[in-house]
Amino acid sequence: MDHFLYRDGVLHAEDVAIPEIAAAVGTPFYVYSTATLERHYRLFEEALSPLPHLVCFAVKSNGNVAVLKTLARLGAGMDVVSGGEYLRAKAAGVPGERIVFSGVGKTRAEMRQALEGGIRQFNVESEPELLALSEVASALGAVAPIAIRVNPDVDAKTHEKIATGKKENKFGIPIARAREVYAEAARLPGINIVGIDVHIGSQLTDLEPFELAYTKVAELTRALRADGHTITRLDLGGGLGIPYERSNSAPPLPVEYGALIKRTVGDLGCEVEIEPGRLISGNAGLLVASVIYLKHGEGRDFLILDAAMNDLVRPSMYGAHHDIVPVIEPAPGLEPQPCDIVGPVCETGDTFAKARPLPPLEPDDLVAFRSAGAYGAVMASEYNTRPLVPEVLVHGDQFAVIRARPSFDEIIKRDSIPEWL
Ligand code: LLP
Repeated sequence: MDHFLYRDGVLHAEDVAIPEIAAAVGTPFYVYSTATLERHYRLFEEALSPLPHLVCFAVKSNGNVAVLKTLARLGAGMDVVSGGEYLRAKAAGVPGERIVFSGVGKTRAEMRQALEGGIRQFNVESEPELLALSEVASALGAVAPIAIRVNPDVDAKTHEKIATGKKENKFGIPIARAREVYAEAARLPGINIVGIDVHIGSQLTDLEPFELAYTKVAELTRALRADGHTITRLDLGGGLGIPYERSNSAPPLPVEYGALIKRTVGDLGCEVEIEPGRLISGNAGLLVASVIYLKHGEGRDFLILDAAMNDLVRPSMYGAHHDIVPVIEPAPGLEPQPCDIVGPVCETGDTFAKARPLPPLEPDDLVAFRSAGAYGAVMASEYNTRPLVPEVLVHGDQFAVIRARPSFDEIIKRDSIPEWL
């Protein structure tokens, strides 16, 4: 459930009419709902209670500092994958002891930054990384708390580009080698083993792969304890999917996911961490665009928007579906017409939807892409010198621009011309 509803035929974000925001900031823009972010975060909180736990929001899904602060105020931790994300979490007021650092390619500079600024744990993904972290921590006279990310060789049954838990993927250490690598970690200076980490993929719409992976993690916890390691934390990753197509999908609910966690690892006496991104931010955001032209092509009609693949890349990158709805509800009785919904970028891949039934629309009408709060603005680029679109946060009847649209001047001035030109 989200807080983007029609009132008197006009799509609202909480108590703010979308056309009001469009008039203030221009299109395209992203808009996020505070109440929806909060609601989704609390669903996980409730689903994991009474287990000791920390919900670490995956900053990669939506890194705007105002969004992070909205969640941090409720006590959320953060899952970061770069020094930049770490600084965003810090800028949102998240203390180091609530930040976990994931990612396959952490640099020594990033390790140093996190050790100096405070970190809950590093989720270590390889032996070379483990050795580097041991060296960096030792040189600082610090001790790095770690969990080792294990690859459980489980098929997440999601899009191949976002499945991460199969043995052929680049992530983690094969679970069969875990005991050996934990033994190595225990011998290294500057390293303190605190737990186990696993993340098998994103947009999972079936709980079974989680069940298989978490069962393996529970077995490994027992084995590592028998080997003499202290395992007090289990980081179970993110990945719970959302209903992108509202008409025909109903992925499992956080409460069902929580019950599964309790069933598989709940008796181990560990603190549980999870790293959800999409389920918290996805349906808390819309991308709002204007119609530029209607074009009648050979056997098909095109709706050309002012938003493009550079603003929301998921449809062209993964063939992802986003519901696209008119901001002003159509008058009853108007027959939806199939059209290809496209952006102005000079690539055929700049297509948001094909033969999508939409009520008749006119130039300047507003449309909204639903489920755009995760992996939307964060994956945007300035391809075709299209400025990054602004982000707006709504809270009840208030809204604020939380990232302004850059001017062309700002964009062009980032380039510099060498002296020989
Ligand atoms: N933890 C780790 C280690 C991850 O790699 C990810 C996502 C998450 C947590 C959060 O997963 P979530 O709960 O959001 O599913 N750009 C793609 C999604 C890439 C996900 C990468 N890792 C998309 O637009 O679908």
